[in-house]
Amino acid sequence: MTRCWWEGGTIYQVYPRSFQDSAGDGIGDLRGMEQRLDYIASLGVDAIWLSPIFPSPMADFGYDIADYRGIEPLFGTQADFDSLLAAVHARGLKLLLDFVPNHSSDQHPWFIESRSSRNAPKRDWYIWHDPAPGGGPPNNWTSDFGGSAWEYDAATGQYYLHAFLTQQPDLNWRNPELRAAMHDVMRFWLDRGVDGFRIDVLWHICKSLDFADNPLNPDYHPSMGEKFLVLQTHSTDQPEIHAIVRDMRTIADSYRGGDRCVLIGEICLPLPRLMTYYGNGSDGVHLPFNFALIETAWQARTIAQFIEEYESALPPGAWPNWVIGSHDAKRVAGRLGEPQARVAAMLLLTLRGTPTLYQGDEIGIGAVDILPDMIRDPRELREPGLGLGRDPARTPMAWDGSPHAGFSTAKPWLPLHADWRTRNVSAQLEDPHSILMLYRNLLSLRRDSHELAKGPYEPCLDGAPLASSGDDVCCGCRDAAMSSTCVCGVAMYRGP
Ligand code: NOJ
Repeated sequence: MTRCWWEGGTIYQVYPRSFQDSAGDGIGDLRGMEQRLDYIASLGVDAIWLSPIFPSPMADFGYDIADYRGIEPLFGTQADFDSLLAAVHARGLKLLLDFVPNHSSDQHPWFIESRSSRNAPKRDWYIWHDPAPGGGPPNNWTSDFGGSAWEYDAATGQYYLHAFLTQQPDLNWRNPELRAAMHDVMRFWLDRGVDGFRIDVLWHICKSLDFADNPLNPDYHPSMGEKFLVLQTHSTDQPEIHAIVRDMRTIADSYRGGDRCVLIGEICLPLPRLMTYYGNGSDGVHLPFNFALIETAWQARTIAQFIEEYESALPPGAWPNWVIGSHDAKRVAGRLGEPQARVAAMLLLTLRGTPTLYQGDEIGIGAVDILPDMIRDPRELREPGLGLGRDPARTPMAWDGSPHAGFSTAKPWLPLHADWRTRNVSAQLEDPHSILMLYRNLLSLRRDSHELAKGPYEPCLDGAPLASSGDDVCCGCRDAAMSSTCVCGVAMYRGP
């Protein structure tokens, strides 16, 4: 029984800067994306999640929003957006926008007013605090991008909080006017016809009232980045957040009747905490993103164990979901190599639950070398050399073998992957054994099979000839005796 479209559906993430350029400036845009909609539809996915397309100084490539209701001119106009949305719906697809509630841009008129004086009407729309008694930041909270999470504003003599860049001041969800304004933002896009939101860093939006120091992280090592200097005990995931989520859910549920809008929360927390974001099933987000396939060691038994833990941690009636890549993570084929990226695709698309794919993973884009003068990601620029940069996951889609891979007529804003002349959509459509065809076949199989999309999960470890250390085992026929090829032709993995 299908309760909601997203339960049996697959979501495809588009990173608009890197999907298709129509303006000839080397940056993807909405018109370009509309030109490629038939491709997305042909994959067999059900919904598109579009990373932010709103006016932005682009300090964090759109996750610093200066107007929650507009369209960034680099990407197009409101008319382009309306046309795109209509074209998405005409193909039977859904469109999800990225809602970024934790922070705005420092160029947002709300923040400009907020920082103008201590008495400004919108002062409390952001999180301001006096310096610590002896001077300096109010507490030891660190930004996820490194350094203190506080920035001093000399004009008003207080610090403002920014969980990410200094150009991304945190909004104060404890202020009822701010809440109402953000609810209006949700309604604005839902009224225009979007089918839901992916909610950026949802677990961040509520901080403790007493601004206590976070505990030091006993496992911290400088290679992790300064975010991990402390445990984010007081700066994230506060109990009051669930009332805020409940309001968001009420708004989403008031649209589209039975064919519901979906809310997907970006939440990076351990399982027991993650599960609380489902709420009671009708007052949480529908899908708290599950990043375990990105974060768990790629080892069959470890993954199997996580799947069991995740399945058994789900509250009654909660619907699972799985993610294999994103604009923030290393490319799956870069992490594991193409053979294992194929195994990952099979796992993602045969597990019970809503899968999310990230553009370019379906053609197996791997690791991309970003030379120092090409680095664009502020994450990398703030803490260079730790391998935390996200540019390699954000390089342009490769459509064909023409100049700039058919992505643009100009030099793209980030380089293409080195093998784009052969690793592109057009070439892979010609090859029945390409990873793209594997994705399409899996998606088609999943669509036709209730069991694959929704059937119960049962591990089959016992009795199966799972490898002993160092053995190669086929994940299709489980033929442990095979060394490099196997009778069923499915990918190989290395045993534990
Ligand atoms: C999560 C987004 O996915 C990431 O790209 C962004 O930098 C941070 N949130 C801050 O908005």
